Parts: sequence; C-alpha cells; structure tokens
Amino acid sequence: MRLKLNKLLGRGEKKEYPVPPAQKLPGHIAFIMDGNGRWAKQRGLPRSAGHSAGTEALREIIRTCSDIGISSMSIYAFSTENWARPADEVQALMKLINRYFLSEIDELDEKGVRITIMGDVDAFEEEQRSVLLRAMERTKNNQGLKLNIALNYGGRAEIVKAAQELARACAKGEMSPDQIDMDALSGHMYTAGQGDVDLLIRTGGDERISNFMLWQSWYTEIIFEPCYWPDYNRQTLLKNLNQFAARDRRFGKVKEK
Ligand code: FPP
Repeated sequence: MRLKLNKLLGRGEKKEYPVPPAQKLPGHIAFIMDGNGRWAKQRGLPRSAGHSAGTEALREIIRTCSDIGISSMSIYAFSTENWARPADEVQALMKLINRYFLSEIDELDEKGVRITIMGDVDAFEEEQRSVLLRAMERTKNNQGLKLNIALNYGGRAEIVKAAQELARACAKGEMSPDQIDMDALSGHMYTAGQGDVDLLIRTGGDERISNFMLWQSWYTEIIFEPCYWPDYNRQTLLKNLNQFAARDRRFGKVKEK
C-alpha cells in the first residue's frame, strides 16, 4: 500500500530551499494537516486513502523537524469534532493512528523524539489507549524533538481543563486565586514546559484555526499553504520556514530602531 501511495503522491514542492539559520527557526511549529479527503477525491480514491497518504507526508515532516533541530512540533491528528465523521472513516483513521504508533515508535525513540498526546485519551478503546500511553511513557525522558499529537483534542476544552485543575488546587488550599496568572495556566496545558507556538501551518486552502492550540497561539505567525496535506513535503516546509524567517515579529510592541 505504501509503495502504491508513494507513486501517487508526486510529492508536491520540487524547488529546493535552504534551511534558514538556527536563530531564525521557530522553536515550536504546529500543523493543521488538512486536505487529505480532497486529495483522495481528486484521484477517485476513498477518503481513508487520503489519510494514509497524509501519514507518509507526516513521516517526512517529523524527520525534517527532528533533523533541523526544531524544539517542538504539534500536529492536529483528530479533533473532538472529528467523531461526527462517517463511522467507517473514523474507524479507518483510528486503525491508521494505531498502526502508525506501532510501526514508528522504534525510529522515533531512536531519534530522541518525546511524544505527548494532547487530548482526552479516555475516549479511545482500551487497546488503543494503552498503545498511546506506552508511547508517551517510553519516550518521556528523550531529549530531542518534542512531538505533541492532538487526539480527541479541542483548544477550548484544553483551557477548561487547565482552569478546572487550578480551581481544584485553590479549593484544596494549595494555591490562592491571586496566584492564577498566565504562567500558571500555561503550566496546565498539555504543552507545559514548552514554548508557545511560533508558527502555525495549515494546508488545504481553508484559512481558520479550527479550535487548535488557542492558548498557545497568542502571537503565532500563520501560514496558509494551499496544497493538500499529502502533497506537503520537506521542500514545502523549508519554503514555509524561509517565509517565517522573513517575518517581522513584534509581539504587540513597536520595534526598536
Ligand atoms: C484533515 O483532512 C485531516 C484529518 C482529520 C486527519 C489527519 C490525520 C493524518 C494526516 C494521518 C494520521 C495521523 C497520525 C498521527 C498517524 P480532511 O479529512 O478534513 O480533508 P478534507 O478537508 O479534504 O476533507
């Protein structure tokens, strides 16, 4: 299946782009991997084939982020809203995600990737949940790329979760409400200890955030890349990183001359 898909992929951007200097790279990149379904439809394939092809693209992007020294990478793999898709698509996605974890974990671990699952894993079947939890446990002391995988994730739900945890700590007398500040909230997000998102890339042509990493995206640079996710490759990423490197980030301030 992988060989056949690779033939179909064509693999998007062909032009070669340089890796920007390290100080111009984003510390934290997030991806909304959109367009799998349309990619498949264009080729007369079922939507699930688009998700399989999307997994191939994901492999290449994780490798690239790890190789060029990106500190954190977050990906939107399955939202709280995605359960409402047709049952066969949800099932195919679950299978694919499960297979991905089982087949990639050795290489990811070898590369020093630290996996964090963002989202409520209780909604997954026991077997799948244990695959996800084992991947987190196995890689928790790794020092390389921090890979945050959003599964059954919603940005608002993440903020509510953080607020509830802080409220509970207050109710137990472990902290006072006055101690609730932005750092306290950041410390209760799935990305605790990691920087905010510097660059958000959404493929597929739609220009919205879709409930992804709302807290971490306060001064995020956004790139809407028109290609469908399965066509997103290393060179598209390098192109986007060069666009990011050329941006003037002011964080609401006036730039000193
Ligand atoms: C959005 O495209 C994509 C998803 C809902 C799933 C993304 C999943 C993967 C890329 C692969 C699996 C992930 C892992 C971690 C192995 P869409 O289906 O909404 O596309 P459309 O907008 O063209 O319909």
